[in-house]
Amino acid sequence: MNTIILNGSPKGNSQSCNSKIYAEEFIKNMKNPCEIKCIANTDPKELARYVESFDAIIMILPLYIHAMPGIVMKFIERLERTTTEGKYIGFIIQAGFMETAQEKYVERYFADLAKQLNYNYLGTVSKGEAAGTYMFPKMFKKVLGLVADLGVIYEETHAFDKDIVKKLGKPYELSKSQLRLLKLVHMIGLDNVGWHKFLKQNNAFDKRLDKPFLY
Ligand SMILES: Cc1cc2nc3c(=O)[nH]c(=O)nc-3n(C[C@H](O)[C@H](O)[C@H](O)COP(=O)(O)O)c2cc1C
Repeated sequence: MNTIILNGSPKGNSQSCNSKIYAEEFIKNMKNPCEIKCIANTDPKELARYVESFDAIIMILPLYIHAMPGIVMKFIERLERTTTEGKYIGFIIQAGFMETAQEKYVERYFADLAKQLNYNYLGTVSKGEAAGTYMFPKMFKKVLGLVADLGVIYEETHAFDKDIVKKLGKPYELSKSQLRLLKLVHMIGLDNVGWHKFLKQNNAFDKRLDKPFLY
């Protein structure tokens, strides 16, 4: 199936773009790797016309403030309902928060969107805790391996493998004991070590509690 992969991150082709890493991993072991295009810095109208020539579209995107990036919404608004039968659309969300439960609202929208556009819905793959992928690729080797397997199986079956989707989607919600552990990590201050390092590097540490919009 002639499939195009769309990278929906505003970071586009930047080396710090996790959606780009996921997209490249997804096609890595395919016999005939799919084309990847960035939505960022591309005219949404032109891109919407371009993707019409493909049998399937797979969008790989992050969540920003619990929602899809604005450039993805802008692009979606340019897509037209197809009259050709047998078209497919699917989504892979990778986002920072641990629980993939937060992605359910976007997923519901994507399922509905597929219907509106008269595309068959391949489903939405959700992966949480992905923010550090570009910083620590070795730590994410296993997850990226699953994404590569997802791509190989997609090429063979034209579907997202249910077992891999299930593995990537964990945890949907944190258990009570996991929450207790997180609270402890927060009390000790371990969760802020990385952020504080960035703030110090950018001479912004002293301003971290500022509330510029309060008054
Ligand atoms: C301003 C901002 C808002 C974010 N909001 C969320 C969010 O609501 N939920 C979440 O899970 N991750 C959130 N993240 C984390 C990103 O989803 C995560 O870093 C993702 O891997 C970025 O993908 P990209 O590099 O492809 O843009 C946010 C990150 C930033 C910078």
